[in-house]
Amino acid sequence: MNAQNKQAYVFPKFNARRSPVPVRRYNLPKDFVFGASTSAYQIEGAIDPGTTGRGRSIWEDYFAARPHMDNGEVACDHYNRMKEDVAMIKRMGHKVYRFSVSWPRIMPDGTGAVNEQGLKFYSDLVDELLESGIEPYLTLYHWDLPSAMEKLGGWTSRAVAAHFADFAEVVLRRLGDRVKKWCTFNEPEVIVAGYIGDGLAPGLSNPKLRVIVAHNLMVAHGLAVKRIRSLDTAERLDVGIVVNLVPVEPATKSATVAARKMWQRNYAIYLDGIFHGKYSQVVLDEAAATGAVITDEDMALISQPLDYLGINWYLRLVVNRQGRVVKLPGAEETLMGWEICPAALSRMLLSMNKEYKLPPIYITENGAALADTVSDDGVHDNRRMLYTHEHLSAIELAIAGGVDMRGYFAWSLMDNLEWSLGYSKTFGMVHVDRKTMVRTVKDSGMWYSAMIKANKRAEANKRAKSAR
Ligand code: NOJ
Repeated sequence: MNAQNKQAYVFPKFNARRSPVPVRRYNLPKDFVFGASTSAYQIEGAIDPGTTGRGRSIWEDYFAARPHMDNGEVACDHYNRMKEDVAMIKRMGHKVYRFSVSWPRIMPDGTGAVNEQGLKFYSDLVDELLESGIEPYLTLYHWDLPSAMEKLGGWTSRAVAAHFADFAEVVLRRLGDRVKKWCTFNEPEVIVAGYIGDGLAPGLSNPKLRVIVAHNLMVAHGLAVKRIRSLDTAERLDVGIVVNLVPVEPATKSATVAARKMWQRNYAIYLDGIFHGKYSQVVLDEAAATGAVITDEDMALISQPLDYLGINWYLRLVVNRQGRVVKLPGAEETLMGWEICPAALSRMLLSMNKEYKLPPIYITENGAALADTVSDDGVHDNRRMLYTHEHLSAIELAIAGGVDMRGYFAWSLMDNLEWSLGYSKTFGMVHVDRKTMVRTVKDSGMWYSAMIKANKRAEANKRAKSAR
C-alpha cells in the first residue's frame, strides 16, 4: 500500500463479473436497506477536552489503568475526516448509515452543561449524510459512559438512568427534525459484561451485578423511549433498541435445558422484558438472589411498543449438559474465536418469530474479524465477502419463513478500535492505514457495493414491470 497516498480514501478497481463470490440479487422485501455501522468511540478519536470540549468517558479511565493497550485517542480520526468518510460511504452506494453519538462529547459531565461543539459535530454529520442521500440511524448509547456518571454508580444507578433520558432529550431536540431512526442502547448484554467482568469498561468484575445492571439498562431504555415519544407529538420517529443475540444450541439432547437457561439469562432477558413484559424464572431467581429490585411499573415502562428491533449477530454458542461452551470439531472461526455459522441465524430468527410478537427487524451489525491481505493492488478479503453473502442468504431464508426483515448493516464500515482488543481485530469493509489514516475499500467493500447496486437495479426493474 502506498503510504504517501494523499487521498482520503482509495477505491481500487473491482471486476464484479470476476468476483470470487457472485454478485447476485437476493429475494428481499421491497425497500430493504443496506449500509454499515460504526460507533463513536471506535472511530472518532479527538477525545482531548481542551480542543473538543468533550468530557472524560469510562474508556479513558479503563485504558489509563492499562497503559499497554491500544486506546481511542486517535481511533480512525473520523472526527476530523467526517466529510471524506461520508463521501466514501456515498461512493460505496450505501443507503443507510448507523452511528452513535458520544454522551461525554455532548454533555461532558453527563448532565447539566451541553458542549455545543460536540452537538454541532453530529448535526453536521447528519446534514452531510442527508445531502448525500444516506439515511442516518442514530444510537444514543454505544458504551462510552461519561466518567462523571460512573462516579454516581454507572448503570447500577437509577439516577444515571434518569440522566440518560435527559441526554436523549438534548439530542432529540437538536437532531429530531432530521433523524428519523432512533436507538436507545447498543447491546445491553455487553454493557453488563463491563460490570461483571474485566474485558470492557468499567471492568468491575462483580458477577452479582448482572441482573441489577441489565434491569437498570432496561429502565433507562424505557425512560428514554417515553421521553422521545413525548417530544415526538407527530409520531414521526421510529424508536428501537439494538440487542446482540447469540443463540445457545445444545451439543446433545441432554444439554437442551442448560442451553435454554443460558439463552434466557444472557440474551432473551431483553426480549422477554420488552416483548413479554416479564422476565423468565431463571432471571427472576437471580434477581432475588442478588437483590435486584423489579417492580410492575418498571416492567410497564420496559415493555412499551417499539417501532423496530435491531439485532447484532456474530456467532452461536454450543453448550454441553453442564452448560459449558464446547467447540465442535471442524468449526470455522474468525480472529475473535467466534464460530461462523450462518444457519444458526436463520434458525434463531425463525424461532424468535414464533416466540415473540416482534416489530420489524434490522440486522444492525454482522461481520467478521479476519486477517486481510494488504497489497499494492488493494486489500483482499475473500472470506469476508463470502461471510456477508452467507449471512444475506441466511436472512433470505428467514424472510421466506415469514420474518419481517427490513435491512442489513455490515460491521463495520471500516477497521476500528475493537475496544480492549485494540486495532488488530479488523472487522471493516474498508481498511484504515494506522500510520496515514488513508482508507482503502477492501474487496468485500467493493463486492458489497456492487451487490447493493445489483439489488437496487433488480428492484427498479420489478417496479417498472408492475407499473406497466
Ligand atoms: C458489537 C459491538 O456493537 C461493536 O462495538 C463491536 O466492535 C462488534 N460487536 C465486534 O465485536
